[in-house]
Amino acid sequence: MWGGRFAEGPSALMREINASIAFDKRLWRQDIEASRVHIAMLAAQGIVAQEDADAIEEGLDRIEDEFEANGVAEDPALEDIHMHVEHRLSESIGAAAGRLHTARSRNDQVATDFKLWVRDAIDMADEGIAALQKALVLRAEEHEASVMPGLTHLQSAQPVTLGHHLMAYYEMLRRDRSRLADARARLNECPLGAAALAGTSFPIDREATALALGFDRPTANSLDTVSDRDFALDYLMAATQCALHLSRLAEELVLWASQAYGYVQLSDAFSTGSSIMPQKRNPDAAELVRGHSGRIAGATVALVTVMKGLPLAYSKDMQDDKEPVFEAHDLLGVSLAAMAGMIESTSFDTERMRAATEAGHATATDFADWLVREADVPFREAHHITGRAVRMADEAKVPLWALPYDALRSIDERIKPAVFDVLSPDASVKSRTSFGGTAPAQVRKRIEAAKKALGMLE
Ligand code: ARG
Repeated sequence: MWGGRFAEGPSALMREINASIAFDKRLWRQDIEASRVHIAMLAAQGIVAQEDADAIEEGLDRIEDEFEANGVAEDPALEDIHMHVEHRLSESIGAAAGRLHTARSRNDQVATDFKLWVRDAIDMADEGIAALQKALVLRAEEHEASVMPGLTHLQSAQPVTLGHHLMAYYEMLRRDRSRLADARARLNECPLGAAALAGTSFPIDREATALALGFDRPTANSLDTVSDRDFALDYLMAATQCALHLSRLAEELVLWASQAYGYVQLSDAFSTGSSIMPQKRNPDAAELVRGHSGRIAGATVALVTVMKGLPLAYSKDMQDDKEPVFEAHDLLGVSLAAMAGMIESTSFDTERMRAATEAGHATATDFADWLVREADVPFREAHHITGRAVRMADEAKVPLWALPYDALRSIDERIKPAVFDVLSPDASVKSRTSFGGTAPAQVRKRIEAAKKALGMLE
């Protein structure tokens, strides 16, 4: 396709390093669609005769059917998907095929195809995240009042509810969706017509092709257009942040499934056994979600590093933009689906969680707050008094609430029996009624808002 100025063909190694068909064939649908829109515009503008355009459109339809049925037959002599489509078109309709490439270049073509692909990837990620959010919300609803230890530094801190904990991930995923929506809005300008780098002398209608491909408008600078991969990076960065959230949830499931915690039993569907230790139920899916997040982050670093330092406009380095994006998309898709499956099917051992809450003196802050509120003790002093009560409970090897009243009173006479009302985990969570707090009534409100946002209320 570009052999005119060469006396000899490329070496086998040149072909090998140059070829992208093995991976960019994933763009075939986008390539055909963008070609269709381009040729219709060329005909409408009188740049190509209508009968040639008709032949090209029919040819493209046939190629689409063929690829749909049999996949793209890779020809090592044809570098990339753009050449494969065009070559197949010339086999199919003859010389008229050569008119398709009028007023475009592979540089604006690949940018257009790839943007269309990434736009779909964004939509798929959004759907996958929404499905996981729904799973979380339903489990949170079941457990809006189930107490568990809330941790800081992985140390028992204050009681929270499992519903509140699960809804924390709903919020993370909500931000992920908003980042993807931003990326989509920013992506949605059409590169087609920037041509090689400088635009074209043909009287093309970029507005028409942009709108026909579902873009909001054409891009505004042809040099920027063919050298821009921000859209791929925006997607990868949003995907990375989402993967990072999945990884943190996966880590919690791995910990919770361990014998030491015993908070969950992952379903058989999402556990694996050991070939040597018959008792094992390994949380492999959660571990792989955690592992995949590392590879997704790696894909982002790969493309950042490819792009860094490229002068304007197009350089062939940019052909290496696709594999990281494809890999991240595949890994994120399976991670989201596996996580939704795990969340839906995991059984929570709420008794274990309650016992752990009681064992960790998680209501010590409630004790101190009670002294402040009911006995007008300054908080610092209340903290100290409570610390002594905790030490006493540790020495007696009982939870805070199980200390006899006389023992508490010996620490400070301002302590009254009513303090026991705030020492149970249930009383503690119930009292955290500030907006966004862990009180079941608050959690319920957040769940209702989430269900509304997710379209889960009829
Ligand atoms: N396969 C190429 C890519 O993915 C298409 C663009 C080729 N452009 C060029 N000037 N060689 O980037």
